[in-house]
Amino acid sequence: MRLIFVGPPGSGKGTQAKRLAERRGVPHISTGDLLRDAVRRGTDVGKQAEEIMKAGKLVPDALVIRVMEDRFRSGDCEKGFILDGFPRTLGQAEALDRMLERVRMPIQVVVLFLVGDEAVLERITGRRSCPVCQTPYHTRFVPPRIPDRCDRDGAALVQRPDDSEEKVRVRLEKYREETEAVIPYYERRGLVRRIDGEVDPDRVFEALEKAVEESSPKS
Ligand code: AP5
Repeated sequence: MRLIFVGPPGSGKGTQAKRLAERRGVPHISTGDLLRDAVRRGTDVGKQAEEIMKAGKLVPDALVIRVMEDRFRSGDCEKGFILDGFPRTLGQAEALDRMLERVRMPIQVVVLFLVGDEAVLERITGRRSCPVCQTPYHTRFVPPRIPDRCDRDGAALVQRPDDSEEKVRVRLEKYREETEAVIPYYERRGLVRRIDGEVDPDRVFEALEKAVEESSPKS
């Protein structure tokens, strides 16, 4: 199972990717998580990405592609993977094709999460996540059992620095300017499946499993 999840910020890509990856036993690869981890560790990549991410802009292709090449080398992707938030530009999509051609593991399905701007804003400003296991929550829609504490490990939940209304508007703009161009790139190969991301998370997951089941071979 080799999937790409595309959608505006806050469309539920991370929430659904985490759940599907656990059920299917494949890695969930989020470039956002990998970059945030690089920032936390203060690596060379992290130092270059930090301010760009805080501003809600896109990290340069060369840097993100390097991060993805390193990630694929870690050797846990034979059974498949879910890419969340990558590729986000045409340059990244072409680079991904080159990486996957080398190992003869083409993308099987591209899931596009459809969510309007108003819902995006409401979701992102209420989003909290666990700094330990990265599980996402929402103060209203997906609250933890104990307020501000992760259900899995009890860690205090945090809010991302790019989750203010102002930064979300920049991220939406970047999505329209750069990332939407990736959709026709995969549409030409018949790989895109659209999912209504504005219903509750369980219903999104049902639709997601159905779309993946119908479109990918059992691998
Ligand atoms: P990244 O971390 O990828 O952020 P994003 O794409 O903006 O997506 P989000 O993580 O904000 O949202 P999501 O779709 O995962 O939604 P979630 O499930 O959390 O990237 C961050 C930054 O890193 C970028 O801005 C850029 O700077 C850089 N970057 C990353 N990748 C890059 C790349 N390839 N190239 C260049 N730069 C890159 O859900 C959101 C909230 O809604 C949560 O609170 C959740 O609990 C709630 N929720 C989820 N589903 C539902 C539902 N069905 N109903 C109600 N609430 C829901």
